[in-house]
Amino acid sequence: MKIIGTGAAHPTCSVTNEMLEKFLDTSDEWITERTGIKERCVISSEKLEDMAVAAANKALEDAGMTAADIDYIICSNVVNEYVTPALSCIIQGKIGATCPTVDINAACAGFIFAMDIAEDKLQCKKAKNILIVCAEEPSRMVSWQNRSTCVLFGDGAGAAVVTAGDELKAIRLTTSSLTDVLYYQRKLEPTPYISKDENFEPLVMRGREVFKHAVTSSCRDIRKLLNETGIDANDIKYYVLHQANRRIIDSIRNFLGVEEEKVPHNVERYGNISSAALPALLDELNRGGKLHKGDKLVFSAFGAGFTTGACIIEWAK
Ligand code: ACO
Repeated sequence: MKIIGTGAAHPTCSVTNEMLEKFLDTSDEWITERTGIKERCVISSEKLEDMAVAAANKALEDAGMTAADIDYIICSNVVNEYVTPALSCIIQGKIGATCPTVDINAACAGFIFAMDIAEDKLQCKKAKNILIVCAEEPSRMVSWQNRSTCVLFGDGAGAAVVTAGDELKAIRLTTSSLTDVLYYQRKLEPTPYISKDENFEPLVMRGREVFKHAVTSSCRDIRKLLNETGIDANDIKYYVLHQANRRIIDSIRNFLGVEEEKVPHNVERYGNISSAALPALLDELNRGGKLHKGDKLVFSAFGAGFTTGACIIEWAK
């Protein structure tokens, strides 16, 4: 597998920490110090599907392809306005593709899980060109009265076009069922027969536990991949990490002993946009001219589940 195009789209409404101070018992100082986040883009008038489509079209253009060249679409999404049809079906119609599509939910690690499926499809020659779209609106899962969670998230979409190649050097996925540290339950329609208790509450997160799992698992995954491939850590151009929180990013960097300039971040501008964070940051590096053919990149992400995904790729463009 190799990545041949990237794209991203963010909502127009940017909410600064100062704006949050107006209705929450919080401060720019607390949020900046604990998370590094200064602002986040949240959905207002847009639909998530439109951002997904915008990101997808940019990735197609970057790849020099049209929707007709795509023969499989994988959409990573945790929540959107539709339970059914899948978001990937909506994206397919709006970009004008005709191929099969599927949605996956591996939370914030969704991009790497999608890459893994894409690699398998390409390996067994069931597809030639695959579009991965990660589109997320976590701002709709949190209570905006809860200062512990709503300050952390933003909305957005990131996309990548992948095709056959041997640039994916290694990939590692894990799931460990740890469902009480981070969850959000959807409210379902009542029936005349429901007799069990059903709770509906906004996103629940045990922040400190998530923090520890995130740092430990990301360091473990990255070390395993470097060992497995024999690639020298010094030869990695960038460590493209899930953008959940600047302190998590810095802790991973410190434990791995990596220089600051090798760990790009944009969490300060977008907050945590779940699985869209990684392809959106990759797109920023790509369009900013920071990537060159042959550069070795590490990706690592972690999310609710608890899921983790990491891989090493060589930049192909
Ligand atoms: N403003 C001001 N005070 C706050 C805020 C806020 N926005 N949020 C929490 N506090 C208060 C708490 O109420 C608490 O007050 P108390 O001592 O009077 O009870 C105090 O700050 C400390 O709260 P903690 O939760 O212990 O603070 P902590 O230092 O752990 O920071 C944070 C909280 C930022 C959530 C941290 O735990 C964290 O970064 N966790 C990782 C979670 C994360 O990034 N999740 C992203 C989603 S998951 C994913 O992408 C994998």
